[in-house]
Amino acid sequence: MFEEAQLYSPVTTGAGGEVTVHLHDGHPGADDPAYRARRNEIAAAALAWRPGTPAPAIDYDEREQGVWRTVCRELAVLHERHAVSEFREALTRVALPVDRIAHLDDVSARLTALGGWRYVPAAGLVDLRTFYGSLAARTFHSTQYVRHPAMPLYTPEPDIVHEVIGHGHLLATPTFGELHRRAGAAARRLRDEESLRFLSRVFWFTLEFGVVVEDGDVRAYGAGILSSYGELGEFRAMQMRPLNLLEMGTAQYDITRYQPVLYRAESVAEIEAVVGGFFDTCTDRSIEELCHEHAVA
Ligand SMILES: [Fe+2]
Repeated sequence: MFEEAQLYSPVTTGAGGEVTVHLHDGHPGADDPAYRARRNEIAAAALAWRPGTPAPAIDYDEREQGVWRTVCRELAVLHERHAVSEFREALTRVALPVDRIAHLDDVSARLTALGGWRYVPAAGLVDLRTFYGSLAARTFHSTQYVRHPAMPLYTPEPDIVHEVIGHGHLLATPTFGELHRRAGAAARRLRDEESLRFLSRVFWFTLEFGVVVEDGDVRAYGAGILSSYGELGEFRAMQMRPLNLLEMGTAQYDITRYQPVLYRAESVAEIEAVVGGFFDTCTDRSIEELCHEHAVA
């Protein structure tokens, strides 16, 4: 079964207050002491942050800035070809810096003016209830670390590139920004942890890895694809299935490799109706009934 924690490297605080990010063996930065120290430093800054104060001002070094510049340059070409139109329009309206990493408060300032969203710092994993519940208030918990420079064009972990370039532009769109908020409102209604996990999987296969037919072509609207150079280049070759809430909500998946199965909507209106409709109406009971109907069918 999918475990949300596998998305993130665990963060712990020792008895002396030292913050450690535990990179798994095989992580591109696992054998890079400077990278590990940097991850610890950035996680500590997020843990020390208090609501109502400015987000930590990370003084990114040239190596980190280089990753951002490379990703921005490479993704710009792919977005033009593969991203859903609302996302492409948002790129111009948000107008994030491409030569330096955006400060979270700067991201908030741009997004607040375009739909009311704001970013707050996260050291790593934010529990499902907090993460999704905050979306209802148009608040997005964002990491600030940068992926390892050895692999600038893909990361299984949600780094600042994923959070800001992927989600940030989606949040500035009328349809997908609102779908994030509607997912958050749904999460606040759900009390059962299994229901919340069902919701998070629907979110995963739509707002993280969804694709949609637009102008006769398949385009990506999921933040996970839109922030990954590799997935943008390969998603059209993946197996595609029609939107199916039960399948998405109960699917098992491996976040450490490209998603082999994607759910394709035939129009943005279908996403609104099926996914938005689910977010607007789901309850613990309706989700339980959906799963039960399948079990007895
Ligand atoms: Fe994400």
